[in-house]
Amino acid sequence: MLRRLGRNFLFSIALSFFLLPANEAVAIGDPERGEGIARDHGCFECHTPSGELVGDGVPYLTGQKQGYLIRAMTYFRYGEYVYRGERGQSHEQVVVRQHWHMSEAAGSLSIQDIRDLAAYYATQSCNPPSLPEATAVAPTGTEFCEICHGGARSNPWSEMPYLSGQDVDYLRMQVGALMAPVSEEQGDTSRHNRLAEAMFRGYSEDDLEEIIRYYASLPCPR
Ligand code: HEC
Ligand code: HEC
Repeated sequence: MLRRLGRNFLFSIALSFFLLPANEAVAIGDPERGEGIARDHGCFECHTPSGELVGDGVPYLTGQKQGYLIRAMTYFRYGEYVYRGERGQSHEQVVVRQHWHMSEAAGSLSIQDIRDLAAYYATQSCNPPSLPEATAVAPTGTEFCEICHGGARSNPWSEMPYLSGQDVDYLRMQVGALMAPVSEEQGDTSRHNRLAEAMFRGYSEDDLEEIIRYYASLPCPR
């Protein structure tokens, strides 16, 4: 499926891009205040406190990594985000994340609001109403994704999203958006991260579909 050499090389590049902005998301926040903001801003209409799903393509936030939630909301807040080189590195990483509803929902949030919302959702238990049929064995190629995303409840990174137990339609949409060229019209969801090229290189659509279904069938993280 993937040539090992290429994969290791891409992984080290991807990680160096990824680790660059680590100091942007300090994991602090007040979950109680976050709950109030979620209620006042209508977040519960789509991302319920119990993690119950309200529609296809709406992600679970409950139990997700706090650092990742901060990043995701910051991306929506700014739409396009450029990390400039730090610590002597000269490259830039451009991240795009736009969605007609989320861009509006996050547009008026302050940095403290974002931290508090993330602290709230990260500390709630996820509670999916019904999981897709469990796929017992991880499909070939999943071991690469596991380096960053872990398996069920085992993601070792503070800012990498859990995929386990996530809504399958949401995962499928995100992979499609992340793989599309940045210049392409993407409808409701527009997402770009240089890491994506390394994440999905060498995988066919069928491979990815199997991996996504596998992740969606795992227990949610908390
Ligand atoms: C009308 C429904 C709706 C409302 C209201 C809403 N969201 Fe969302 N949210 C979505 C959808 C749909 C997505 C997936 C967007 C995409 O495709 O990129 C999403 C994505 C997210 C994500 C990214 C999750 C991930 O795994 O990357 C976060 C974080 C989030 N929402 C937080 C919030 C917060 C906080 C609020 C309230 C301020 C809110 N949302 C209000 C529908 C909604
Ligand atoms: C080098 C680390 C790394 C590897 C390996 C990796 N990913 Fe990712 N992945 C990330 C990061 C970082 C993000 C968040 C990107 C962003 O928000 O812009 C992400 C985001 C995602 C998302 C969106 C999650 C969400 O909640 O919105 C999906 C789906 C995904 N990856 C699937 C995969 C699959 C499938 C594989 C294996 C084929 C894989 N990734 C391999 C680092 C990685």
